[in-house]
Amino acid sequence: MMNKKIAVLFGDGVGPEVTLQSIKVLNTVAAKYGHKFGYTYGLIGAAAIDETGDPLPQLTIDMCRDSDAILFGAVGHPKYDNDPFARVRPEHGLLRLRKELGLFASIRPVNSYPALYHISPLKKKQLMGVDFIIYRELSSGIYFGKKEINKEGTEASDVSIYTRNEIERIAKKAFSAALLRRKKLTLVDKTNVLATSKLWRKTIQEMASGYPDVKVDYLFVDNAAMQLIMNPSQFDVILTDNMFGDILSDESSVICGSLGLLPSASIGEENALFEPIHGSYPKAAGQDIANPVGSILSVAMMLDHFGLAKEAKDVREAVGWTLTNGFVSQDIDPVNAHYTSTIGEFVSDFISNDIPENINAKNIAFGKATII
Ligand code: IPM
Ligand code: MG
Repeated sequence: MMNKKIAVLFGDGVGPEVTLQSIKVLNTVAAKYGHKFGYTYGLIGAAAIDETGDPLPQLTIDMCRDSDAILFGAVGHPKYDNDPFARVRPEHGLLRLRKELGLFASIRPVNSYPALYHISPLKKKQLMGVDFIIYRELSSGIYFGKKEINKEGTEASDVSIYTRNEIERIAKKAFSAALLRRKKLTLVDKTNVLATSKLWRKTIQEMASGYPDVKVDYLFVDNAAMQLIMNPSQFDVILTDNMFGDILSDESSVICGSLGLLPSASIGEENALFEPIHGSYPKAAGQDIANPVGSILSVAMMLDHFGLAKEAKDVREAVGWTLTNGFVSQDIDPVNAHYTSTIGEFVSDFISNDIPENINAKNIAFGKATII
């Protein structure tokens, strides 16, 4: 029996509706296994700016620090997108939270599902056996270096800076993950051009001798971007910096067929945050049509983080069942799409063994299916 305090940050756009499905799933897991999950709720992003003027109010930070895990929805609102010089932006809330809590490792797993091969732009032969995990450094690099724009607005710079310690602490996590997987680690960098990349490469080369069972290889980021599409099953653990990791994780999402499917965990020494990698998808907000799977699979990562491996496996199996049986949102099947909340219910029902036999996407109540 476990008792956990979960800080919930709904954020903007589809954040609240997908996160609600994750809470439903957590409650089902709690009921099945006799755990207690308590929730507190905090403001972040555009929702927080509207109410307090600040995308990350101090109350939210305190609440997150005091939690066992943070369940995060999404941030971003179109009203800030057309003003590149907006003083406050919803995204700043997330970036500051990562920094404040020292969430230095973003862990982003990517799998292909045979039931979804047909929606991937890649071919079946490239999709078979895709199972890798990106370790993206999350609290340093060009995201957090000094940023300047001159008075005239004609010159700007972003400094990318890394220390050896920052590289080592995420690399340790990536090496440990590789040891539990297929024992291969690929460092993605741009050593032929960037000083920070030289430091990354030297650090990893030196650390590699401490992990003789892990096969380490090195790829320049431009080549890695190409290899991810041409031959994604070659990868096991990809380790990279903040900027490259941001780009490569979105690129990787097209492999499995939809950005809406991918979960992530952002881990620090003290705190851990779980969020889908998709953004706030403002066009879909409030319509119950967004894909909740990225958020629900983030809950599976949260359960693993709590040491609840069996519970995490239940969640992944339930998601796999919905995907195989066609209980999917419009990003996956625009013709026979199901509501966000319906998918959340089916995942929950599967976990609590409440699914009637021989049900499939075609014979559930028509009122629940939506065609857009
Ligand atoms: C991500 C997102 C964020 C990032 C944005 C919302 C600031 O794209 O988590 O990948 O760039 O890190
Ligand atoms: Mg991103």
